[in-house]
Amino acid sequence: MMLNPMSSPASLPRIHLLATGGTIAGAHTGGRSYAAATLTAEALVAAVPQLAGLARITTEQVAGIASQDMDEQVWRQLAARTQAALDEPAVTGAVITHGTDTMEETAYFLNLVLRTAKPVVLVGAMRPATAISADGPMNLYNAVAAAVHPAAAGRGVLVVANDEIHFAREIAKTNTTQLATFRSPNRGLAGLVNTGRVHWFGPAPRRHTAGSEFAAAPPGALPPVEIIHAHAGMGRTLIDAAVRAGAQGLVIAGVGNGNLAASALAAGREAVRAGVAVVRSSRTGGGVVERDIEVDDSAAGFIAAEELNPQKARVLLMLGLTRTRDPAALQALFTTY
Ligand code: DGL
Repeated sequence: MMLNPMSSPASLPRIHLLATGGTIAGAHTGGRSYAAATLTAEALVAAVPQLAGLARITTEQVAGIASQDMDEQVWRQLAARTQAALDEPAVTGAVITHGTDTMEETAYFLNLVLRTAKPVVLVGAMRPATAISADGPMNLYNAVAAAVHPAAAGRGVLVVANDEIHFAREIAKTNTTQLATFRSPNRGLAGLVNTGRVHWFGPAPRRHTAGSEFAAAPPGALPPVEIIHAHAGMGRTLIDAAVRAGAQGLVIAGVGNGNLAASALAAGREAVRAGVAVVRSSRTGGGVVERDIEVDDSAAGFIAAEELNPQKARVLLMLGLTRTRDPAALQALFTTY
């Protein structure tokens, strides 16, 4: 853990920065190729001397991975270290640097398990630190600016990218390479931040952080939940294989309003009878999957993901399965979080 080298006035708020890797810490390896998770947390802070005007920053390297390698073990370590920092009265909030590929899943997991009302802001970048016009430094500056803003507390876990502030529950990565990759298609942005100037919009949606019944990640491994991507001509093969492999939950990234082909539906009903929780989400990336529209969820014992995309639905289902197997109780979680 290191205090930032710049002489930040003692009157400034204290931000703990936890680094996990990602492109924000990436460096080119030759031509257009680059390696994520190359720079350290200290290097990221040192590259933005203007941070000294916003906060006193301590840093901690929790992991050094590209976020396609993010997993439950790192989630738990990150949650524990973030919680420990936030439990220090002198710490105003936390900023977490992270790859963009799975940032939305980590953010939502933390949104459900952190016992805090303090600001927690995740930040990444679409260009490596060695790129022309790298976006990481400004994203990091804006993330710290959002975290130290007096009105940031109580908004749940947030993500800052490309001058936007997203709620962890709402955000999704929608483009492979563009700076404007992140969208919040259903309920919109938490706010905007431009060169450190923050504009907040509405309050955080649904229950989160200190208001979550999952605050404090449950002990033991999370139950395995797989996502099955639906498509024209979908059969039952992958559903049956996931059940055989021991999945305790399935999230169907269904076509349209969470739909799936008849043979896949039959496999889903059999999975429910075998004790596997089946959630219908949508591959469309927006909107609400509701119960009993084209699919008779009540008869099948399925759960509708409501507003959550497949990767967010998986996070909530894993946590929910640590509490209950009852489809009705699980369904209630998707109208609560
Ligand atoms: N490998 C990707 C990741 O770490 C790079 C994408 C990024 O961080 O922007 O998520």
